[in-house]
Amino acid sequence: MLHLKAVLNAAELAHARTALEGADWEDGRVTSGSLPESIKRNGQLPQQGPLAQHLQQLVLQALRRNQLFFSAALPRHIAPPMFSRYDGERQDYLDEHVDVAMRYLPDGGRVRTDLSCTLFLSNPEEYEGGELVLADSWRDEHVKLAAGDMLLYPADKVHRVNPVSKGCRYASFFWLESMVRDEAQRRLLFQMDRDLMLLRIEEQHASSTAVLGLTGAYHNLLRMWAQG
Ligand code: NI
Repeated sequence: MLHLKAVLNAAELAHARTALEGADWEDGRVTSGSLPESIKRNGQLPQQGPLAQHLQQLVLQALRRNQLFFSAALPRHIAPPMFSRYDGERQDYLDEHVDVAMRYLPDGGRVRTDLSCTLFLSNPEEYEGGELVLADSWRDEHVKLAAGDMLLYPADKVHRVNPVSKGCRYASFFWLESMVRDEAQRRLLFQMDRDLMLLRIEEQHASSTAVLGLTGAYHNLLRMWAQG
């Protein structure tokens, strides 16, 4: 689980918010799939609409420049981001569920859902309730991040969105398939890459033989484990 800060900059966030606040929302139940309709009450942006497609590009562009996201997720395919609205006046919610293993895309492609992403588009003080809750055998994680921040988490977790009792919660959510399917391998690569990034910004290490060698080892591990 990883908290990525300021994935969207202030200008992108303001732009997205203005667009979402003026949008036509459809009933989120259209994408319930095999789950009962009572599993959720929320609004979703029509996935094929021009506004959703415009905002998808905005989010994907922000992800492309995010080195930490790339290092942690090692994305192979990213499903088009979706957008949701939980309205406090309707006590919108999403009950506990698990996400499907495959997302089938309009163009016929498919994405194995290794990792889930929730990009918060409302600040915590704008609404009450609405925590993203990830169930865990030890203790549940309650997550409510600043607008523009994103949570990256394993897609196999039971999760829910608590009812919003006041205000309005906007978010983008989507799944991705990683080049490295195995979570333990992915975590090890991330740890190594992150530590190498730290060494490279320290002047006495930046161009050392050891850093060069470890960088080579990182890429050899990625070559060994990456698919596609
Ligand atoms: Ni879900």
